Amino acid sequence: MAIVCKSASEIEKMRRSGHIVRQLLDYLKAMVAPGVTTMDLERAAEAKIKELGAKPAFKGYYDYPCVLCTSVNEEIVHGIPSEKRVLNEGDIVSIDCGVVLDGYYGDAAITVPVGNGLKPEIKKLLEVTEASLYRGIQQVRIGNSVGDVGAAVQEHVEAAGFSVVREFVGHGIGTRLHEEPQVPNYGARGHGARLREGMVLAIEPMVNFGKPETKVLGDKWTAVTADGSCSAHFEHCVAVTKDGPVILTQ
Ligand code: CO
Repeated sequence: MAIVCKSASEIEKMRRSGHIVRQLLDYLKAMVAPGVTTMDLERAAEAKIKELGAKPAFKGYYDYPCVLCTSVNEEIVHGIPSEKRVLNEGDIVSIDCGVVLDGYYGDAAITVPVGNGLKPEIKKLLEVTEASLYRGIQQVRIGNSVGDVGAAVQEHVEAAGFSVVREFVGHGIGTRLHEEPQVPNYGARGHGARLREGMVLAIEPMVNFGKPETKVLGDKWTAVTADGSCSAHFEHCVAVTKDGPVILTQ
């Protein structure tokens, strides 16, 4: 499958699904507190998606059971919401949410601290990961390459002494949740697919406090750091336009 470029009216539709994802993440972020379970977030998200007139993108995708991925501390991505997973003061939780509206997908993630007991070095992990996403977004320009995006993310992360995950990557997005191209959070400038007007990329750095290696738990979904260190994750959908990068999940 080739990379699909979207028309201005398609990008407008993606802005609408992106806006719904942002509303959801803002709403869920405000709920995060010690004692809340990741299943509380899931239930709230499912109701809110309905209320906003969209459909969840993740539930049923390769048999994934929920509308959210909630990944706590050493969990990198694809944590499955659970009644048993109680958020505690000092934890971090990545909330990843996708919806489809009028045939077009939106997908975004944030990582938020639980309560006020966040360790300064983990606060820095969150700040560096989010900043690395914006470094990548700055490279989303006609004529640049996918490698420019990955290199910008990687350089920012490694300069701070953290590491980027290799086994999971960002992706094109449009009428499907995952389209070409893959968008790694590492790479070499000038390498990989060239960016053309109308492409939409979901850029999603996953950054480990310690080593980059990962493993997947027995539930077949939850990806965790091999060394048990904390991991952060932020994601935006970004369109390639004549005027430079346009964030659709704003
Ligand atoms: Co994604």
